[in-house]
Amino acid sequence: MITAKILKASSKDIRKIIDIEELSYKDPWPREVFIMDYLFNSSALYYIAKTKNKIVGFIGIWLESTRLHIINVAVHPEYRNEGVGTQLLLFAIDYAKERKFKEVSLEVRKSNENAIRLYKKLGFEVVEDLKAYYQDGEDGYRLFKNIEET
Ligand SMILES: CC(C)(COP(=O)(O)OP(=O)(O)OC[C@H]1O[C@@H](n2cnc3c(N)ncnc32)[C@H](O)[C@@H]1OP(=O)(O)O)[C@@H](O)C(=O)NCCC(=O)NCCS
Repeated sequence: MITAKILKASSKDIRKIIDIEELSYKDPWPREVFIMDYLFNSSALYYIAKTKNKIVGFIGIWLESTRLHIINVAVHPEYRNEGVGTQLLLFAIDYAKERKFKEVSLEVRKSNENAIRLYKKLGFEVVEDLKAYYQDGEDGYRLFKNIEET
């Protein structure tokens, strides 16, 4: 178990975030998309998980009117299964609670069983089947966690 500090990402952290993204997905976001989202999307916020002064994971959230949408969450492969992903997700859930959002949402590939198990453990429920949602044609799920009920 790793205890990480969750901190707001600064522009100097973007390079490391992109490294983790590229190690985590077969279809990572292109670097430019990341940088554009970080710099110019006024409803996007990025947070990093830091342990021993090393960035080991990140979460990207979009603040929609009544919903906090988790656009991305990833942990460096060498630091997985040590609770860092849970800490990042709990941070986002607390953020949503404190600001009185109604729900937290995210999408996930159907094949991403580890992530789905983790989301369900944290109280997310499948609300929609997303047919051929990903560029390679894979189906996804949309999950919600209702904040008002908790
Ligand atoms: C999904 C992800 C962020 C989880 O981060 P993490 O730091 O490994 O997660 P945690 O250690 O907090 O949680 C582990 C939980 O996830 C599941 N899990 C994670 N890795 C697992 C593995 N190799 N085998 C089985 N279960 C696993 C378990 O439910 C475990 O729960 P437990 O605490 O009861 O054991 C990480 O695996 C990742 O970066 N994956 C690649 C990117 C990705 O798929 N992101 C989600 C896109 S929607």
